[in-house]
Amino acid sequence: MMLGKFITFEGPEGSGKSTQIRLLVERLEAEGVAVVQSREPGGTSTGEAIRELLQHDAAGEPLGDRSELLLFTASRAQLMDRIILPALENGAWVLCDRFIDSTMAYQGFARGMDLATLEAINAFAIRGRKPDLTLLLDLNVEAGFRRLDERYAKGAETHDRFEQEGNDFHTRVRDGYHALVEREPARFRVINADRSIDEVSADVWNAVKEALL
Ligand SMILES: Nc1ncnc2c1ncn2[C@@H]1O[C@H](COP(=O)(O)OP(=O)(O)OP(=O)(O)O)[C@@H](O)[C@H]1O
Ligand SMILES: [Mg+2]
Repeated sequence: MMLGKFITFEGPEGSGKSTQIRLLVERLEAEGVAVVQSREPGGTSTGEAIRELLQHDAAGEPLGDRSELLLFTASRAQLMDRIILPALENGAWVLCDRFIDSTMAYQGFARGMDLATLEAINAFAIRGRKPDLTLLLDLNVEAGFRRLDERYAKGAETHDRFEQEGNDFHTRVRDGYHALVEREPARFRVINADRSIDEVSADVWNAVKEALL
């Protein structure tokens, strides 16, 4: 049996990751590809419990940087072993909303933790199996927050811990992503996300076809 392909979506808050992953799942399924969709932190029962802890200080005390990092990577290790690696072995394609590059961008470039340490912890969590393709949805910080404000205006969702960080933090996240692209240009495709949902999804589809089909 052919091994599946592994695609991750990255980008700043509100850049359209969840929207575009949903559209790509539909498109791939229409092509007859078996697809497994997941997200980080989360994707397993343990991971979803960790997500609660991470997003709203759910345990009632502030999280230190190292604890935050290790919770993210614990969720990732669990997801890797229980969902991603078995799915790829079975020939399914795996699409994941955030993955190792979020750790590098948020904990590394934005929080200032040592990049080489983060790379080693990431490699350990994922057993060295990096994504075949990473789509970076690139959007400026203000535009992303405008979109999230519209999303919140419609529903009861509240801002998570990262969304409460300031503009400087999120600018470091965005710039960090670009630094990651320079380090591994073959794995990334940068998509201009400051366009309509349909225009972005057309680019996503072209990138996937060109890189993997
Ligand atoms: N190309 C687009 N143009 C305008 N609005 C968009 C576009 N893509 C997504 N949106 C809207 O912007 C909001 C954020 O999109 P989405 O939730 O897909 O982003 P995200 O990257 O997953 O955000 P988060 O980082 O919070 O998970 C949603 O309300 C969505 O409907
Ligand atoms: Mg999302």
